[in-house]
Amino acid sequence: MADIIIKNARILTCKSNGPKIKEHMQDLGIIERGFIAVENGIIQEVGEGDGEEFCDRHTEIIDAEYKTVLPGFVDPHTHLVHYGSRENEIELKLKGVPYIEILKMGGGILSTVRATRAASYDQLMKKMIRSLDIMLLWGTTTVEAKSGYGLNFVDEVKCLEVLRDCTHPVEIIRTYMGAHAVPEEYKDNREGYINLMTERIIPYVAEKELAEFIDCFCEEGVFSVEESERILLKGKEHGLKIKIHADEIEPMGGAELAGRIGAVSAEHLIAASDEGIEAMKEGGVIPVLLPGTSFYLRLGKYARGRKMIDMGLPVALATDYNPGTCPTESLQGIMVFASMGMGLTPQEVINAMTINSAYAIDRGDKVGSIEKGKNADILIMDAPNENYIIYHFGINHVNTVIKNGKIVVK
Ligand code: NIG
Ligand code: FE
Repeated sequence: MADIIIKNARILTCKSNGPKIKEHMQDLGIIERGFIAVENGIIQEVGEGDGEEFCDRHTEIIDAEYKTVLPGFVDPHTHLVHYGSRENEIELKLKGVPYIEILKMGGGILSTVRATRAASYDQLMKKMIRSLDIMLLWGTTTVEAKSGYGLNFVDEVKCLEVLRDCTHPVEIIRTYMGAHAVPEEYKDNREGYINLMTERIIPYVAEKELAEFIDCFCEEGVFSVEESERILLKGKEHGLKIKIHADEIEPMGGAELAGRIGAVSAEHLIAASDEGIEAMKEGGVIPVLLPGTSFYLRLGKYARGRKMIDMGLPVALATDYNPGTCPTESLQGIMVFASMGMGLTPQEVINAMTINSAYAIDRGDKVGSIEKGKNADILIMDAPNENYIIYHFGINHVNTVIKNGKIVVK
């Protein structure tokens, strides 16, 4: 018998047996008035009717009349673990100083590296848990999180251990991103830093299972295409799956690289070329778009999400939560940029933040849709339909969050 039944619900199941593409991104697999039965953390059944046959006197019944029920959001790209904040950069940004210039001046990522190195394991854990609490309140139930503010052996491992040891309802998928910037002490010896990663840190991270993915900031002035390829392939050799920050600001050929080396996903892609998009399609790479970052960097330009969907790529969306280019934990906040900025429909946006983002972190079989046998990660929104969630923007529509069958927000 069910532990929980949600009934009278307008359910957006986001059902699919693979990443959604083209017109399927427009389809939310809606059940107009249905039920979801949850048992032992798993979705036992979903369908039309009220699911009475799954109830006994122990079952908790949630009446979701006039509400919208959807899968817990999956955020497939965040820089969750870091210390400090960078509100001091607002002034520089407003003056028009480019992001990469701030980094070259020793600010940006490097200033967060200094704060993160100085922070203890406990301080990092505490700050991260505050962010996870916010994510959960706003409907995120699974998150990918990268290291990349330690940039040496000890501090990268410290950050990955914080991610590994965290016990929070939001599930964390870990990525090693030592190739986020060249640290100050290697400024004149970038080869030395790349060797440190490929010879020492990557083998250790893989052996200790500190990360499942590897990522690299392939960008003009950060890591070149050749360097990125070397670093990412070393990760692959050690069993890590590939993600890549590609063509965020300059069209570098990062998307082409992603297609060529079998990346699971390529992220940002604001400046990705036509050939790059084609290469991703060929290589089965999931584009993870981060429109909050376009907005916050004042780039005046978004990734070509509309074109990617029309070409048949399974677009996913993420926050990019980090202290510099997108300091927000809220995927509901990102929805408005994806829709009004990139021209995606509310249906496409929701599929991109649930089922497609689950595939972008290789969890498409477990989360991202409301289907029998999947983890019971479910949101109940105080909204009459999916359009309303995006239309009435800037507020939190979450009424209830269920993670692995437990009510964690109510
Ligand atoms: O995805 N682009 C590189 N990394 C982050 C920003 C990190 C930072 O500025 O602290 C991003 O935008
Ligand atoms: Fe990022």
